[in-house]
Amino acid sequence: MKKILFASSEVHPLIKTGGLADVAGSLPRALAEISQDIRVILPNYSSLKKTEDVHFISSVRVNNQDANILETRLPDSNVIVWLADCPALFDSPGNPYVDETGNPWENIADRFALFSRIIVEVAMNRAHLDWQPNVVHCNDWQTGLVPALLSVESNTPSTVFTIHNMAYQGMFPESTFADLNLPRQLWHPNGLEYHEMLSFIKGGLAYADRITTVSPTYALEIQTPEYGYGLEGLLSHKYHILSGIINGMDLDQWNPEADTSISEPYSVKSLEKKAINKTSLQARSSLPVNKSVLVFGLISRLVEQKGVDLLIDCLPEMVEMPLQLVLLGSGDKSVEQKLMNFARLYPKKISVTIGYDESLAHQIEAGVDVFLMPSRFEPCGLNQMYSQRYGTIPIVRETGGLVDTIEDALPKSLANNTATGVSFKEASGGALLEAIKRTMLLYNDKKTWKKIQTTAMGKDFSWKNSAEQYLALYEEI
Ligand code: ADP
Ligand code: GLC
Repeated sequence: MKKILFASSEVHPLIKTGGLADVAGSLPRALAEISQDIRVILPNYSSLKKTEDVHFISSVRVNNQDANILETRLPDSNVIVWLADCPALFDSPGNPYVDETGNPWENIADRFALFSRIIVEVAMNRAHLDWQPNVVHCNDWQTGLVPALLSVESNTPSTVFTIHNMAYQGMFPESTFADLNLPRQLWHPNGLEYHEMLSFIKGGLAYADRITTVSPTYALEIQTPEYGYGLEGLLSHKYHILSGIINGMDLDQWNPEADTSISEPYSVKSLEKKAINKTSLQARSSLPVNKSVLVFGLISRLVEQKGVDLLIDCLPEMVEMPLQLVLLGSGDKSVEQKLMNFARLYPKKISVTIGYDESLAHQIEAGVDVFLMPSRFEPCGLNQMYSQRYGTIPIVRETGGLVDTIEDALPKSLANNTATGVSFKEASGGALLEAIKRTMLLYNDKKTWKKIQTTAMGKDFSWKNSAEQYLALYEEI
């Protein structure tokens, strides 16, 4: 049995802005299910969803600052969660990365440096918890300083650093390095320095014993300039300790047979009931109620990564076609504005909800026929897996985890019953539109459509497999 400290800046259902939270809420459960002793650590944000059994267990002093460690559990599980509590830094409204007005926290470097130092104290068994992990599993730049800080200690646990997104690196001016009082020996081009800037993610990439990312395809892509965001050289140099392990999905939370957010539960055996979810979604979205019309959905952070601009390029043609669109997301204000303008001009075709709404996300997955993920890059992506489980056919761009989880509906894959979606290569509106037209043809052939839905719904996206791959990695180091 391994003792694992799993560190993440977000953990579903306590706090979530994206897929990292889904992973940090599910992978630890899956590791606990295969008998590992795993503890999760995240900051005690004021916006954390309150659970009943939070209690104080110890206090630590790091970098001349006092902090507490509170203990709770992942809801409906026995997995212990430690909350790194420092009201001076985390007790303000907003999400983990931005304040209430949507601006990045000015003190974001202090926040995650302090979080990392607390993780180090726990990892070194200096936090009075009487527990020392064999492995510290860090996720994304917010925990990147952990492997770096551990590198200057002795008798340390091993470290794994998982990249969920190379586009976010935690880069700060050189002066921040001194402000954070980081050990001098970490400042060099093979350490935390990146072109005279302080890079948190480099702490993970340069010092962790193993680097993973969330799909085999993305593990290759990030070694190239197009996807490596300047760190492709370092990553290809580290290829021998770099691997891709595909994310699983939470099969309880995303289960069309037992989803309490949707109008009518259904399974592969009662696919006709999916139409009830479609008509409820249309009614709720103020779209004409019609169970035959093809409905497209999208749920996304509205950022460049997600390729929503490709969809915007297609909208003038799409509104002339017999289809409807239900879109949910928030992010880039100009993208939000463009989408809302289309919704205002074509209220019978497009419904747009700006914001974050988990219940609506479930209703969209259940109610639409086709899910759009035209991502420019996608380390793993989760909604294409949720979609398949809900018999909702994903249209994806062939990148990252989307390649590893979707089988394009081509004559061969249709013939041998492996097709589960539609994919396209080029990051352009034209290529997306072609894929949309191809999907419409498939939809018109009811038998083929049902075959794709059935194959998609039967795929195994459980965490068990991936948890075993992580365990093998922990055992190797
Ligand atoms: P990323 O982490 O890059 O945003 P993923 O596909 O891995 O992409 O995960 C996104 C997760 O966040 C999914 O669970 C998705 O349903 C959810 N999500 C994204 N935007 C919203 C939103 N506006 N409302 C509700 N859920 C959302
Ligand atoms: C990131 C990626 C997404 C991935 C998620 C969880 O946010 O953008 O592709 O699914 O992390 O690993």
